[in-house]
Amino acid sequence: MKSVDVLLGLQWGDEGKGKVVDVLTPRYDVITRFQGGPNAGHTLEFNGEKYVLRSIPSGIFQGGKINIIGNGVVLDPILFQQEAEALATSGHDITHQLYISKKAHLILPTHRILDAAYEAAKGSGKIGTTGKGIGPTYTDKVSRNGLRVGDLLHNFEEKYAKAKKRHETILKSLNYPYDIADLEAQWFASLDYLKRFKIIDSEYEINRLLQEDHPVLAEGAQGTLLDVDFGSYPFVTSSNTICAGACTGLGVAPRRIGKVYGIFKAYCTRVGSGPFPTELCDETGKKIRDIGHEYGAVTGRERRCGWIDLVALKYAIMIDGVTDLIMMKSDVLDTFKTIKACVAYRINGKETEIFPFEIDARIEPVYAELPGWLCDMTHIQQESDFPKEFKEYLTFLEGKLGVRIKIVSVGPDRKQTIERYL
Ligand code: GDP
Ligand code: IMO
Ligand code: MG
Repeated sequence: MKSVDVLLGLQWGDEGKGKVVDVLTPRYDVITRFQGGPNAGHTLEFNGEKYVLRSIPSGIFQGGKINIIGNGVVLDPILFQQEAEALATSGHDITHQLYISKKAHLILPTHRILDAAYEAAKGSGKIGTTGKGIGPTYTDKVSRNGLRVGDLLHNFEEKYAKAKKRHETILKSLNYPYDIADLEAQWFASLDYLKRFKIIDSEYEINRLLQEDHPVLAEGAQGTLLDVDFGSYPFVTSSNTICAGACTGLGVAPRRIGKVYGIFKAYCTRVGSGPFPTELCDETGKKIRDIGHEYGAVTGRERRCGWIDLVALKYAIMIDGVTDLIMMKSDVLDTFKTIKACVAYRINGKETEIFPFEIDARIEPVYAELPGWLCDMTHIQQESDFPKEFKEYLTFLEGKLGVRIKIVSVGPDRKQTIERYL
């Protein structure tokens, strides 16, 4: 019997999950997504090519693997078709490698409109969602009004008409103008496309594969600080992005979970609204954004940048039960003379290492300062070639976080990845 290893973002998303899933894929037979939807944008680079995946697991490029979209995912058939067709055009036909859970919920055209309408109604308090209908789709799931991929097989038109009517009533009450005629036609056409894929009882399939000794990797989307329960609520996404989400989003028991990879950037970013204690709204923040190309993988939105936050990271490690840490984008700090790391929060004059209930402007980060390494790390292939100051940064972080950093990434390419403690 094999286990499910889980790979999770520990910050506010965009840590580099796609790259690392691709790197780890040769060790697994099955790669699965368990939550989120096309709000994700996971970037992979190899052989001089760059790909961005939204709903499709990042194991799709390493031949012979099974990729599964689990029950916890919300799927937009239009965006799914665009993604799958773009892959086919670039020579990666995934039709026979990808299975979809019957229990995954469908994002309807009206969910997208509702997302925009709710954001407009919030005014300056808006969340800054990706506009993909994620919140309204999960809302329908929890309120027991959702449509699932398996519904395509029976009486679908009737179920759809009922859901649409309900959404139209809400949109009317919000006084939100919209026209979905084109979107709706496109949506129905893409449902036919979706039916080309194997639509399965994924919980049975995954447990069978485990039983038959096939190792499984679960690919998280978003990050722990965007989790609907433990993130910076209400500025979060609408799913459980934490390790426990892999159990409910795949139908595997907690005791089937093996390693938990926790992935973080050597600094920190956030896109959309919401608190960010270590944010740098100055030249240093701009420098990180420029060097790190910190713009949304799909939306192109500017990502807010700041120093690494060890209070938040320790909290995420605790919630997720991280066994192995992975540090990304180390090279982005190559030219910084001094590197800061937030080791505590000062709130009303008192220092704490607890991630508080209210994350607001009263939080003052307390920083440790470390010397930068001031050299190009992008060509480094082995740990022994790391500059002394970078080794010290790793030792400092491991001391504070209490978990080993097993992988270090020094560039976006598959090859720019160094394993430690082998
Ligand atoms: P994900 O959503 O967690 O998969 O991350 P994104 O793909 O949204 O954002 C990560 C970005 O950083 C992508 O553009 C990656 O190509 C890039 N990237 C990943 N690892 C590294 C790294 O070590 N160094 C640099 N410079 N870029 C990286
Ligand atoms: P990946 O998987 C970064 C953010 C949005 C917004 C909030 C809610 O690429 O790391 P939603 O559309 O989910 O209702 O938006 O969550 N957000 C992300 N930020 N990376 C992501 O995914 C994100 N998915 C959602 O910007 O603040
Ligand atoms: Mg991303």
